[in-house]
Amino acid sequence: MTATIDIGGVKIPRTAALAPMAGVADRAYRLMCREYGAAMVTSEMVSAKGIVYSDRKTAELCTVTPEERPMAVQLFGSEPEFMAKAVDIVLRYEPDIIDINMGCPVPKVVGTGAGSALMKDIPLAAMVCEAAVKAAGSIPVTVKIRSGWSKDENVAPQMSKALENAGAAAVAVHGRSRDQFYSGESDNSVIKAVKDAVSIPVIGNGDVTDFASCERMYRETGCDLVMIGRGSYGRPFIFEEIAAGMAGDDYTPPTLEEKMEIMLRHIRLMLTLSEKPEELAMHEARKHAAWYMNGYYGSAKFRGRCYQLSSYAEAEELAGEFIALQNSRAEL
Ligand SMILES: Cc1cc2nc3c(=O)[nH]c(=O)nc-3n(C[C@H](O)[C@H](O)[C@H](O)COP(=O)(O)O)c2cc1C
Repeated sequence: MTATIDIGGVKIPRTAALAPMAGVADRAYRLMCREYGAAMVTSEMVSAKGIVYSDRKTAELCTVTPEERPMAVQLFGSEPEFMAKAVDIVLRYEPDIIDINMGCPVPKVVGTGAGSALMKDIPLAAMVCEAAVKAAGSIPVTVKIRSGWSKDENVAPQMSKALENAGAAAVAVHGRSRDQFYSGESDNSVIKAVKDAVSIPVIGNGDVTDFASCERMYRETGCDLVMIGRGSYGRPFIFEEIAAGMAGDDYTPPTLEEKMEIMLRHIRLMLTLSEKPEELAMHEARKHAAWYMNGYYGSAKFRGRCYQLSSYAEAEELAGEFIALQNSRAEL
């Protein structure tokens, strides 16, 4: 039987959650991952100040559909008063959890003092968290962090303790520092140090790409839940693999034909959920199509063709060609 963990009253299977990914993990992506058993999903990050001043994209980013639950809505911001106001607005969308982004390394976010810049000012980070916790009432607030600002300074345990004291219901830790961006390897010892420092649930994150690396993260860190980002690119079924592994069951990955069917279903879902005309919505589907074709003979050429797709019919045709190419190779 799969174990469950409890984040402020929200029960989550101890398998693997989908990480927040702006520009990637939109509603269609989250629904695909939930369908394959992602334990929890998180929205793309939303600016706290942005939603307080304008609600142009708020509904699109914050809406939680029943099939996505349990779902967290993620906010970023560095001013406690704006965080509190933003939480108040987000609560209208009834998220299961509110998550605060204190790990994002991108200059646009860090430049405002938010994201991983808060790892340089732990007292302020705690105030932002506390303001969110107070505004959120009975809805749990979690925080996502990295190891620290620089690789030489692991502030994650100390920061996590401060966040726990500020009322955070869980902390998610990516085992890289801000200055590493996505280079090098994510360090599981950072996650373990956080686990040793706090009593709230710890979510481990970084470089999990299959059941073996997921199991290793659980074993090496003692974390309560694993979170997967890039390892799910073109592979929403990774969550099925992990759920099977955690339950001690065998797992057979989808065949190429099944993968192409999953890709086409993902694209159809994107087109259905998008308010844009097909051609524009297909622009957003291109990178996903390319990811589904990774790792096969002739992938590079096909990925290039994915970046030219402008209709669903073209995607269907390309999938057919891709299958034919792989089958002709198999017959050699
Ligand atoms: C394209 C992309 C977008 C991301 N957007 C967010 C985000 O909105 N909020 C956040 O906390 N982390 C974001 N991240 C970081 C991921 O959630 C995750 O911490 C990181 O990718 C490491 O996990 P992985 O090795 O499993 O991908 C993003 C990462 C990527 C690659």
